[in-house]
Amino acid sequence: MTKITFVQSDGERIETEGQTGSTVMETAIMNGIPGIVAECGGACACATCHVYVDDAWTETVGGPSMMEEDMLDFAFDVKATSRLSCQIKVKDALDGLVVHVPRRQG
Ligand code: FES
Repeated sequence: MTKITFVQSDGERIETEGQTGSTVMETAIMNGIPGIVAECGGACACATCHVYVDDAWTETVGGPSMMEEDMLDFAFDVKATSRLSCQIKVKDALDGLVVHVPRRQG
């Protein structure tokens, strides 16, 4: 299990356990994280699973693929640390990951 913390826009922190091989988006949905909508179910086709990767984790998580980058154009308030959480695979190296949930989704 991989510990993943979701920080809401009001600062509330919600700690979850992600399963290796699943995605950060699936972890959010399974734990009822407010603000992660995931309309397309993880097909990289909606941008409603947008998160900001915490500064301490951007290097470990890495950047978006070209397809993900194109879809991020449809997200609100995109920043350098923006990722689509359905495109981040849960793995041991991400144990302790912190992501921030945007104030609103597209
Ligand atoms: Fe639709 Fe991630 S769930 S792009």
